[in-house]
Amino acid sequence: MTQTSVPQERKLVTAIPGPRSEELLARRNAAVAQGVSIGLPVFVTAAGGGIVVDVDGNQLIDLGSGIAVVNVGNANPAVAAAVAAQAAAFTHTCFMVTPYEGYVAVCEALNRLTPGDFEKRSALFNSGAEAVENAVKIARAYTKRQAVVVFDHGYHGRTNLTMALTAKNMPYKHSFGPFAPEVYRLPMSYPYRDEDAGLDASGPAAAARALSVLDKQVGAQNVAALIIEPIQGEGGFIEPAPGFLAAIAEYCTANGIVFVADEIQTGFGRTGDLFASEHEGIVPDLVTTAKGIAGGMPLAAVTGRAEIMDAAHAGGLGGTYGGNPVACAAALAAIEEIESRDLAGRARQIGEIMLPALHGLAKRHSFVGNVRGRGAMLAVELVEPGTSAPAAQLAGAVNKACHQRGLVTLSCGTYGNVLRFLPPLVIGEELLKEALDLIADAFDEVAKSLPAAEAAPSPRPDTD
Ligand SMILES: Cc1ncc(COP(=O)(O)O)c(C=O)c1O
Repeated sequence: MTQTSVPQERKLVTAIPGPRSEELLARRNAAVAQGVSIGLPVFVTAAGGGIVVDVDGNQLIDLGSGIAVVNVGNANPAVAAAVAAQAAAFTHTCFMVTPYEGYVAVCEALNRLTPGDFEKRSALFNSGAEAVENAVKIARAYTKRQAVVVFDHGYHGRTNLTMALTAKNMPYKHSFGPFAPEVYRLPMSYPYRDEDAGLDASGPAAAARALSVLDKQVGAQNVAALIIEPIQGEGGFIEPAPGFLAAIAEYCTANGIVFVADEIQTGFGRTGDLFASEHEGIVPDLVTTAKGIAGGMPLAAVTGRAEIMDAAHAGGLGGTYGGNPVACAAALAAIEEIESRDLAGRARQIGEIMLPALHGLAKRHSFVGNVRGRGAMLAVELVEPGTSAPAAQLAGAVNKACHQRGLVTLSCGTYGNVLRFLPPLVIGEELLKEALDLIADAFDEVAKSLPAAEAAPSPRPDTD
């Protein structure tokens, strides 16, 4: 499965971080703005398949994919070759000045691959946030309405408009206001917490709660776009209950609201379908993509119904770098890898391997409240032992214990209490199983630090 010259083996030769990384961290502290923070301060020299190599010679197992970006593997040889060839030919003209075929070919691929068999158009940008901003511009131009509706726990980026669309204050919004107006937030379907709150956690009931807020506080006739992540990313890998997305999409269609699926984290095979909307047969009007689209090169897109996409006037969309030719070459190679190697199928296999082991953690430790996710987008939500109160400190401790064992892991969640796992879809099975054993060790270590009555783990289940 893995095509890389990086040895597919975990190896720890120093503490994490090692001395060379510590030196670079000191330089970083003196030179880089503190607002740009670091989750795991090992400085990288190479990466490929399921391994990240650091400056001290440590080889860590990658369970983050650079936040769901290198689905096809880091420095994927096909992507690297396409990038090199394009960089040697030309690196930039600006598509809006003198165009090139790669941009058109990426748009054709997106139009073919995203859900819906109607006529589509795409436009390319640099980052996920920029794609979301443009989806809003397009929806407003099409509907001639202003309001934008989003959800609790949603994350859509760090620009001014996307900060407004994002739910979580710290660290994304705090002290950065004022934010863009005409943004309204609805309650999300969050089955674990809905049940805990004694609500009807079914998808239709959660949708009815959300749509009632929209009706009462905004008015459907004022809404240009409703934007939702089919599985929420930064908010905690929250998978809405079955039927929730369908009810929301149906309401949008009935009320002339542009339904935008933000597939920036979930797209390109990550959840076991090419796009997570497909799982329940949802057909969005517009889809925003980025991250996994180009194997690590910066590229993003808005794709959707031709009549909506074409509503913005000529010159109204674009930017100097959007759809850069090198990024487009990378995207075409990455998309070819995803399709020809059935990496969505591989994501499903990763889920089949990982989920039983993660459920085993929940049986063993009373501080695991919920295990969830699909394909290779999986999460464990940590709580104060035996309760449902979010336990951010425990999540931080487990995350750190994973790092010490040579795993690149990430946390997330509105309450900061979710560990998320996003391995590259090309990771080898042995490496994945080794990672699961190490995760189990990390949980055991943290359990030992708890008061005895709370810690007592049940026997460790067989993770194979
Ligand atoms: C669902 C979603 N939307 C938007 C974004 C913003 O993308 P970017 O960081 O490329 O601006 C992200 C990034 O994590 C995301 O997960």
